[in-house]
Amino acid sequence: MESKREYLLQLMHRARLGGGEDRIERQHAKGKLTARERLDVLLDENSFEEIGALVEHRCTDFEMDKVTYPGDGVVTGYGTIDGRLTYVFAQDFTVFGGALSEMHARKICRVMDLAMENGAPIIGLNDSGGARIQEGVDSLGGYADIFYRNTLASGLVPQISAIMGPCAGGAVYSPALTDFILMVDETSYMFVTGPNVVKTVTNEDVTFEDLGGAQTHATKSGVTHFKTTNDVECLLTIRNLMSYLPMNCKEQPPQLDFELGEEVRSGLKGMVPDQANQPYDIKDIIREICDEDSFLEVHEDYADNIVVGFARLAGSTVGVVANQPLSLAGVLDVDSSRKAARFVRFCDAFNIPILVLVDVPGFLPGTDQEWNGIIVNGAKLLYAFSEATVPRVSVIIRKAYGGAYDVMNSKHIGADMNFAWPSAEIAVMGAKGASEIIFKREIQRADDPGAKAKEKEDMYANTFANPYRAASRGFVDEIILPENTRVKLIKAFAMLKSKVRKVPDKKHGNIPT
Ligand code: HXC
Repeated sequence: MESKREYLLQLMHRARLGGGEDRIERQHAKGKLTARERLDVLLDENSFEEIGALVEHRCTDFEMDKVTYPGDGVVTGYGTIDGRLTYVFAQDFTVFGGALSEMHARKICRVMDLAMENGAPIIGLNDSGGARIQEGVDSLGGYADIFYRNTLASGLVPQISAIMGPCAGGAVYSPALTDFILMVDETSYMFVTGPNVVKTVTNEDVTFEDLGGAQTHATKSGVTHFKTTNDVECLLTIRNLMSYLPMNCKEQPPQLDFELGEEVRSGLKGMVPDQANQPYDIKDIIREICDEDSFLEVHEDYADNIVVGFARLAGSTVGVVANQPLSLAGVLDVDSSRKAARFVRFCDAFNIPILVLVDVPGFLPGTDQEWNGIIVNGAKLLYAFSEATVPRVSVIIRKAYGGAYDVMNSKHIGADMNFAWPSAEIAVMGAKGASEIIFKREIQRADDPGAKAKEKEDMYANTFANPYRAASRGFVDEIILPENTRVKLIKAFAMLKSKVRKVPDKKHGNIPT
């Protein structure tokens, strides 16, 4: 018996060593943690339970039967984050460069199945050279098994992917199917085809970093939602993100203890400049409205003319979508529409109420926008809001012009409560442009065209560039003083807590792409 115990302990020791001390050292030298060290940071202390530590590959080609490692390059199992169950897999770069074999994929599928059956999130830590080259189609099939499960799990349980090393070729499509991607700056990259193939096919010279590093995907492609500076920051960001999310689509998000106190925020009074074209930082308003230090921005460096992220109001999670006057005057364009649509759909899938702060001068004009499909991408955001059945509350801070008024969670597309500040302007377009069109002849004929133009502009502004016409129609439920916004929102979301809204019974919709 003693020797049997010894055998098991030795085997478990081997499993824990992965590809061995030398390769662990190489991993550390690159500034990266090992798969097991990463799980230690990610999960609550001593909460990790491993599944499949002794799984080995079955490949016999290329003398692979002579090289096996218990665990086969991926550590899988479950644990807790702030006491809540989560399933995890962490690819181990020290074993065959974390390359994915048939059995490695089977281990990942096993925890994904458990996550779906038990209604808990699945977090994947990716660090892999891609398909295990020695295994051929067995490896490719393994990827497809994972992609299939990613799709089935979408909208059922939150799926989070951290890219903490290479992630190339078709392997990128598993993270792409998940809800959130985090990347570690300078030690991770993602691309479908690497720099060498790019050079051969398009003759472009590009580095790994420029083609698919964290900075590129955070700013240019929007593939990654969070760019982090090192492994630890990446894993702690996941823990923070999880604190806003429910375990599955049937659960409500976590409610933190909160006692109502003085919720009037006089700081909100002077935040919007009197001049309609003067920029200000919408994030200052978000921070002032929401619980202290509760705002976690998503996609911070991508399409920054719209701001999205999670925050708390009286301890409850809300998803915030807000136009950002600091960037492109907060206009809607292709990228910002896609970014916001994706976020709204996540919130809706996971019962997270949505707060929308509106200051939008319209859609961005130009050939670039039209040729890149502002029509369908703008429609995507319109669709995402329209189909969302979670509580939805808007506050029109300043501009709500043209089609963008409709799109930004207007009453007409199903918002539950619509507030406006006295500074709101709800119109087809700005007063100057509008009056120049409809009073063109009158202005031209006037003795003093400049004075006439100003008179007409003021007239239009008095009629439409305010929230009162919309309030008289009931499209705005209440015009509120800025300092009362937080109180009004806390009450409105509390009032909407048990909202049930049904959509027509159908197989599924067809969101514009
Ligand atoms: C088997 C692999 C491997 C792979 C790396 N290794 N990639 N083994 N299959 N795909 C092994 C190496 O042999 C080496 O083993 C160890 O992992 C570490 O690799 P190094 O090259 O020494 O590390 P590094 O210099 O850091 O380079 C990492 C790397 C490089 C950039 C990822 O290894 C690489 O280019 N690998 C191949 C990538 C690739 O072309 N993959 C297939 C992509 S196509 P030892 O024993 O020396 O430690 C794909 C299709 C998926 O994935 C399709 C899904 C639909």
